[in-house]
Amino acid sequence: MTPLLELENVAKTFAPVEGCANTVLSGIDLEIGASETLAIVGPSGSGKSTLLFLLGTLETPTTGRVLWEGRDLAELSTGRLADFRNREIGFIFQEHHLLPQLSAFENVLVPTLASKAGRDRSLLAQRAEGLLATVGLKDRMAHRPAQLSGGERQRVACVRALINAPRLLLADEPTGSLDRRSADELTDLLLSLNESEGVALVTVTHAPKLAQRMQRGFELLDGSLCEAGRETGT
Ligand SMILES: Nc1ncnc2c1ncn2[C@@H]1O[C@H](COP(=O)(O)OP(=O)(O)OP(=O)(O)O)[C@@H](O)[C@H]1O
Ligand SMILES: [Mg+2]
Repeated sequence: MTPLLELENVAKTFAPVEGCANTVLSGIDLEIGASETLAIVGPSGSGKSTLLFLLGTLETPTTGRVLWEGRDLAELSTGRLADFRNREIGFIFQEHHLLPQLSAFENVLVPTLASKAGRDRSLLAQRAEGLLATVGLKDRMAHRPAQLSGGERQRVACVRALINAPRLLLADEPTGSLDRRSADELTDLLLSLNESEGVALVTVTHAPKLAQRMQRGFELLDGSLCEAGRETGT
């Protein structure tokens, strides 16, 4: 079956900021199936965020191809690529990036503003409310980010990433700033959203506990991506 997203021999070299060019990724091959869950681990600076940005089309590869359901995304114009990204891909960033002046509810609806006119605003508002209730924030919808805890802010960021019903959710250290209990709860939440929404999930993490709960695990080291063997069973 054609993968949802595929990286084919992808390399990424950043132009020199000072001194020499920096080759962060080389020869990366990766296939992600619909509804799959993957973890990517690796030392700081190994290129995990860069890889996630390539998967999310926020960065372009220096060489190699990024294919969505077999189609080379380099063929899309900038405008079509932005539409595609807005529709199909949800991001949870290393920092939550919520807008401080908006409520949790309004933050969740931000990604819907970029899409073409004609969408039913009341249906979107219902979906936002329903998802916020699912993540336990029914009573926090009117709160601004500064009036929420760190864990609550990350849950709002999860809902915002899912509002357009994407098929791929990319999370960059989503539990990095959370205590153990909130981190466990957020992991439960990501996996239940993966199940209920059927969204594929790629998580970059330093937390072995989070990584182990994903179906597949990868390590990024010296620019290469290696799949870790997994024991069967639980
Ligand atoms: N836009 C850029 N221009 C130049 N170099 C960059 C750019 N973005 C990242 N880099 C470099 O690429 C390398 C990988 O960065 P990246 O942010 O992908 O690492 P990471 O594995 O996510 O690290 P961390 O665990 O600390 O978040 C770093 O050496 C960084 O300095
Ligand atoms: Mg990073």
